[in-house]
Amino acid sequence: MLLELRGVSRRFGGLLAVADLSMTVARGAIHGLIGPNGAGKSTVFNLITGVIPLNAGAVFFKGERTSGLRPSEICRRGIARTFQATTLFREYTVLQNVLVGAHLVAASDLASTLFWSRAYRERERRARERAHVLLESLGLVSVAGQVAGQLPHRDQKALALALTLATGAELVILDEPMAGLSLQERAETTRVLRRLREQGVTVLLVEHDMKAVMGVCDTVTVLDHGVRIAEGTPREIQSNAAVIEAYLGAEEPGA
Ligand SMILES: Nc1ncnc2c1ncn2[C@@H]1O[C@H](COP(=O)(O)OP(=O)(O)OP(=O)(O)O)[C@@H](O)[C@H]1O
Ligand SMILES: [Mg+2]
Repeated sequence: MLLELRGVSRRFGGLLAVADLSMTVARGAIHGLIGPNGAGKSTVFNLITGVIPLNAGAVFFKGERTSGLRPSEICRRGIARTFQATTLFREYTVLQNVLVGAHLVAASDLASTLFWSRAYRERERRARERAHVLLESLGLVSVAGQVAGQLPHRDQKALALALTLATGAELVILDEPMAGLSLQERAETTRVLRRLREQGVTVLLVEHDMKAVMGVCDTVTVLDHGVRIAEGTPREIQSNAAVIEAYLGAEEPGA
């Protein structure tokens, strides 16, 4: 397994947002985390990425404990989460954004980059090659020279994903990547997720679009009030009485 949560809990004042949660994410899987609004899904993501500390339990990545480490260290070890579109470098081009994601250059000195040395030029060449492969697989080649802030919503979402992947992460954590997208764009995003899986990237996905979740995930974990109420294949989850009661029954399927 790639990621393991062992008895993880988090409270906010009197509210137990995540309650003694244990779950494992298999290497190479697309693993869904679903549940009603306020179930604790985003909080789980914040706990995994170290943005907020846990009150109890532990998180392990590739067998090593990551809970308690700083977010930058957790990211360095190979866990990345999508940036919201608003945290793209809006004034930079698509290509420049991905190069920043690859840590080729710090965002602050991107504009004034000087080619100091042969080693630097070689590093730059390789980074550009990698960036091009990423842009190609996300359908962004034709807009590579455009300024990020002026892209349509769909391309901004794809670029946010490209930035995350450029870090070389083995586990990518996506919080509602389908939100605000058209049906066709959702189908495209689904194809991107499958392509990532083919490339060996493990995906942990929070998403309210049940059609997408059930169509793309290998395993789904269901949270309700911070408690894991079910886990299984999409087929098992869709016919689980407790899940229908807590979540699926209340949602318009595919909404
Ligand atoms: N920083 C915080 N301070 C206080 N309460 C918080 C904080 N973050 C989350 N909560 C609360 O914890 C609970 C879980 O929130 P969380 O955002 O994890 O839910 P979610 O499953 O992601 O919901 P949604 O589907 O609406 O995104 C909610 O009751 C929320 O109000
Ligand atoms: Mg959320």
